[in-house]
Amino acid sequence: MRVALLHPGAMGASLGAALVASGQEVLWLSEGRSESTRRRAEAAGLTAAATLHDLLAASDAVISVCPPHAAMDVATSVAGAGFRGWYLDANAIAPATARTLAEVVGPTFIDGGIIGPPAHRPGTTRLYVSGDGAADVQSWFGDGALGVHVVPGPPGAASALKMCYAAYTKGTSALLLAIRALAEAEGISGSLLEEWAHSQPDLTARSEGAARGTAGKAWRFVGEMEEIAATFEARGLPDGFHLAAAEIYERMRALKDDPAADLPRVLSALLEPRSE
Ligand SMILES: NC(=O)c1ccc[n+]([C@@H]2O[C@H](COP(=O)([O-])OP(=O)(O)OC[C@H]3O[C@@H](n4cnc5c(N)ncnc54)[C@H](OP(=O)(O)O)[C@@H]3O)[C@@H](O)[C@H]2O)c1
Repeated sequence: MRVALLHPGAMGASLGAALVASGQEVLWLSEGRSESTRRRAEAAGLTAAATLHDLLAASDAVISVCPPHAAMDVATSVAGAGFRGWYLDANAIAPATARTLAEVVGPTFIDGGIIGPPAHRPGTTRLYVSGDGAADVQSWFGDGALGVHVVPGPPGAASALKMCYAAYTKGTSALLLAIRALAEAEGISGSLLEEWAHSQPDLTARSEGAARGTAGKAWRFVGEMEEIAATFEARGLPDGFHLAAAEIYERMRALKDDPAADLPRVLSALLEPRSE
């Protein structure tokens, strides 16, 4: 089987390497991508295609693993090029967005959501899939580093699971960072940390870990938080938690890929005076 991977980011490249290890040929599109994506693709053993036409002509299936805000553009360009093979969207998008993608792509659409870090070791990372064709995805990856699990239901079910999971993990990280920024602005950080040491002993380390773990990726969490907010809103639940989380991550956007970003840098970004 030949699989087109759009695009080999940190997660995408690990899926590509898992497919290669399972015996598939994996192609990627070099057009428009950065040097870091090229390095990751080469390290994962992927084959470059120069144009979308070349890529799709040589592929039986497409897997989309990109920033959530780009998922629709990627699907539209693949469908617009007349591709009729399997199309697996593995991005953090709302179930309603997944259903819209299913209309754009057609009956070969498979909905997916990934939970865990880039899949370099067995047991760490799961790809959840739903819809027609979902049951076949496990055979693409074999018994390698990525666990594949079917979520019963139509396209949108796997994305709903991803939204519920990330609503807690990335939502609580944003909340903790907002609280640390507020304490700093009020001049009571020391007292808050003392109280936490008595009554909530894990929160100091969790807030520091949240800063280190989210700063470099906050630019793409903005779209993910908006997708989560839309998921709550579509079911009549309040969307405000994750719209606020989107704003927290938006304020951290400039820390993209900054290896030295830590809690003090994050607090400065959150508290920087704004013009609007
Ligand atoms: N990383 C994780 O731990 C993790 C965990 C669970 C789920 N996921 C999911 O995996 C997806 C991607 O994550 P990742 O870790 O691979 O991200 P990443 O390391 O930031 O890589 C993003 C990839 O998408 C490309 N890209 C950037 N902007 C784009 C755009 N506007 N249109 C199309 N492609 C674009 C990048 O290319 P350039 O190099 O040219 O910018 C890069 O190849 C997300 O949907 C995320 O929710 C990731």
